Amino acid sequence: MRHLMSPLDFTVEELNRLFDLAGDIEQNMGSYSTACAGKKLATCFYEPSTRTRLSFEAAMLNLGGSVLGFSDAGSSSASKGESVSDTIRVISCFADICAMRHPKEGAPMVAADKSSIPVINAGDGGHQHPTQTLTDLLTIRSLKGRLDHFTIGLCGDLKFGRTVHSLIHALERYEGIEFIFISPEELQVPDYITDRLKELNIPFEEVIRLDNVMPRLDFLYMTRVQKERFFNEEDYVRLKDFYILDKAKMEDAKAEMLVLHPLPRVNEISVELDDDPRAAYFKQVQFGVYVRMALILTLLGLEGGK
Ligand code: NCD
Repeated sequence: MRHLMSPLDFTVEELNRLFDLAGDIEQNMGSYSTACAGKKLATCFYEPSTRTRLSFEAAMLNLGGSVLGFSDAGSSSASKGESVSDTIRVISCFADICAMRHPKEGAPMVAADKSSIPVINAGDGGHQHPTQTLTDLLTIRSLKGRLDHFTIGLCGDLKFGRTVHSLIHALERYEGIEFIFISPEELQVPDYITDRLKELNIPFEEVIRLDNVMPRLDFLYMTRVQKERFFNEEDYVRLKDFYILDKAKMEDAKAEMLVLHPLPRVNEISVELDDDPRAAYFKQVQFGVYVRMALILTLLGLEGGK
């Protein structure tokens, strides 16, 4: 049985198959409408979510399966003190696959260890968010036709942003990727990630100003300052509007540069950009459903039979 904890759990070849399947789903949605008939997805969300939980649920419903779960730790037995290991043993009796989000780094791994059904990490604290990364990679591949030879700027909260950590991790396996990390000093990418990039000889730069590097980027991955992971409100207030991407800043960008964002957006992208053809963040959401459908099919071993 397979779980998904990190984007590196799939080889590049397996990811290619997953993205091909997602592409086929996009083209032939109707022919997958009973692929998961009789199967149940449990969504166990101990932290807030809109896109991730609902896109998992939409994915399972599109496949003809059913969904159950909770969207708030307070309404689960976690509030009575039940451990994640016990909860997953119980959920294993009710469902065929589980997507779990938890504020504690590593909690979905603890669950996977005791689970008799596939567990998908739907975000663990400030650590990883592999299904957002699958969404990001499918978006890049679908809109640009490849996943290699790009200069990618990641901007905002690179310290706490789990989507950033997972995306860097996943992209380390593709040729010709160059990273530019754009953040205030307090929100730089953690050392364990930059140390790994150095070990792998993957080029990266760390800068504070976005405008200086803008003309070089093929992608700009904007992120929200992760309020819920700050220890004090004052720091958050000081840093929250450090970057605001607007039309004026986009003037220096390449004509074909794409703006990505895992969403939710707060102030870091001005709404005036939403109509710019380079704004790809709402397209990402749609790709997220296709890739989660492909993932559910793959983890349930049903990828062959639509
Ligand atoms: C992200 C997350 O939860 O880490 N959201 C998402 O799943 N698309 C990003 C964020 O909350 O800023």
